[in-house]
Amino acid sequence: MATTPTGLAERSRTLLVASGKGGVGKSNLSLNLAIAARQLERRVLLLDADVGLGNAEILAGVSAPRHLGDVLAGRASLAEAVVPGPGGVDLLAGGHGMLELPPIDGLRWRHVLAQVARYGWDLVVIDGGAGVGGAVRPQLLAAREVLVVTTPEPTALADAYAVIKLVAGRDPAQAPQVWVAVNQVQGAAEGERAFARLAAVCRRFLGVEPRCLGTVPFDPQLRRAVQRQVPLLLAAPHSPAARAVAAMARRLLGAPAPATGGLLAYLTRLWPRRPLRAASAPGD
Ligand SMILES: Nc1ncnc2c1ncn2[C@@H]1O[C@H](COP(=O)(O)OP(=O)(O)O)[C@@H](O)[C@H]1O
Ligand SMILES: [Mg+2]
Repeated sequence: MATTPTGLAERSRTLLVASGKGGVGKSNLSLNLAIAARQLERRVLLLDADVGLGNAEILAGVSAPRHLGDVLAGRASLAEAVVPGPGGVDLLAGGHGMLELPPIDGLRWRHVLAQVARYGWDLVVIDGGAGVGGAVRPQLLAAREVLVVTTPEPTALADAYAVIKLVAGRDPAQAPQVWVAVNQVQGAAEGERAFARLAAVCRRFLGVEPRCLGTVPFDPQLRRAVQRQVPLLLAAPHSPAARAVAAMARRLLGAPAPATGGLLAYLTRLWPRRPLRAASAPGD
């Protein structure tokens, strides 16, 4: 893999890309955002956390002999499973088409993140699953920075609200930075209206002020890129959707990382003090 262990875990910024509804464009956005960040000279890991239903490998047109499922099961180390991805990003595949997989519970997730923390990626983009249950829940509850992807459709917006509600329900001192991306818009105005509606209900009912990372137009070139298994940013860098994603990467990286961000804080939240004490002093 391209990165070198540094031991400086706090240097890594992790962005969990989430969505309430499936099929809104989360995997494509994760992949292209990762590539756009790499083009801005950041060292980036794309971590496909949708174990068993992973798309990153297919969308990226690479083959990964090992995947997150192997890391979760202890069959492979992170260094063995990470492969070079397109555009210079490192990729940890989610694995697909497998029926027997270990569930991502808090403990296993922590194990993976502990391994990630040993490397010096500037940005770790996590393509999470859709929804608020199952494997996604521990990821959402631990995330320091979340990008909620939606489309302008009322159903997608309602499900995006559910995701934001879950993360906003955490201890206010640990509330994550919430970004929103509105995908598949017909014109910037539609995206801005959708964001404004979502932001208004978040403000009113949750006391949360999400930030708009950007809107991405509906772009037939994205579909073609998916068919070719070449990421849009490489297949059609001047297409409207690619330009929008590049602008999002600039906005993200131009914004400071959340103050207490970094993988160490991420791990600490995921693994509260009590179990750690129990581990060091059994019978306590
Ligand atoms: N901006 C867009 N313009 C056109 N089609 C899009 C766009 N974003 C997503 N799509 C379509 O939606 C499909 C699902 O995208 P994907 O990233 O796999 O969604 P998710 O990970 O949320 O399930 C893509 O294969 C593509 O056909
Ligand atoms: Mg996906």
